[in-house]
Amino acid sequence: MTDTIQRGRQIYEGKAKILYETDDPDLVIQYFKDEATAFNALKRGVIEGKGVLNNRISERLFLLLEGEGIPTHFIRHLSDREMLVKRLKIFPVEVIVRNLVAGSLAKRLGLEEGRTPPYPLVEFNYKNDALGDPLITEDHAVLLGAATPDQLQRMRAYALRVNDVLLKFFDERGLLLVDFKLEFGLHKGEILLGDEICPDTCRLWDKQTMEKLDKDRFRRDLGKVEEAYQEVCRRVCGE
Ligand code: TMP
Ligand code: ASP
Repeated sequence: MTDTIQRGRQIYEGKAKILYETDDPDLVIQYFKDEATAFNALKRGVIEGKGVLNNRISERLFLLLEGEGIPTHFIRHLSDREMLVKRLKIFPVEVIVRNLVAGSLAKRLGLEEGRTPPYPLVEFNYKNDALGDPLITEDHAVLLGAATPDQLQRMRAYALRVNDVLLKFFDERGLLLVDFKLEFGLHKGEILLGDEICPDTCRLWDKQTMEKLDKDRFRRDLGKVEEAYQEVCRRVCGE
């Protein structure tokens, strides 16, 4: 493959990324923005340099996962804010894995953040802005036509394998992987891990200080947001 990939028509613009067509119908360019939203876009802001950092962090993590035999949409680095990826038909479900209780789980069940469940928990959310991305059961996902039981089972299994790999990788870098969100899609009939993996989509706490080094700094107005993303990038990618 050459480096003559041309950015074509914009296919999609989300809250944090833009997708562009390329000359090849099977490949798209994923562009990372600095814009950040929270609470179903009720809160909006800009995290200066986030797009560059998330592109770099996601690239490192997709390469790590590919090396561990988990198929992803990642093909290669294109620029500071762009990666070349396989075109996916994304399942309208978010797959969340939780190693510690935090965020919406703590709120929904009235539990304190930081409690350790007996084993990693897997949740599915229905990707639907109008409904506020509700938590759903696997039966609901089938009812909605979002995925088949077999596809849901495969996504769950991949998500737990991703957790094993990432938990160890972050731990070696002094970071506790509290929870994260994945998105999967179909490419030529195969389920691939898509989207991004970065401090927007993971909760990461410093192992020593328990300081939050992720998007919760933006969601909860904790300050030092840019610094947190830079620190994660430094630990994940090196200098
Ligand atoms: P939650 O505790 O708010 O449900 O979030 C669980 C994980 O999913 C957390 O690591 C942040 C991530 N996440 C996203 O990537 N996108 C979202 O829209 C939401 C709500 C959470
Ligand atoms: N990105 C999501 C939104 O704006 C929420 C979040 O990450 O907290 O709706």
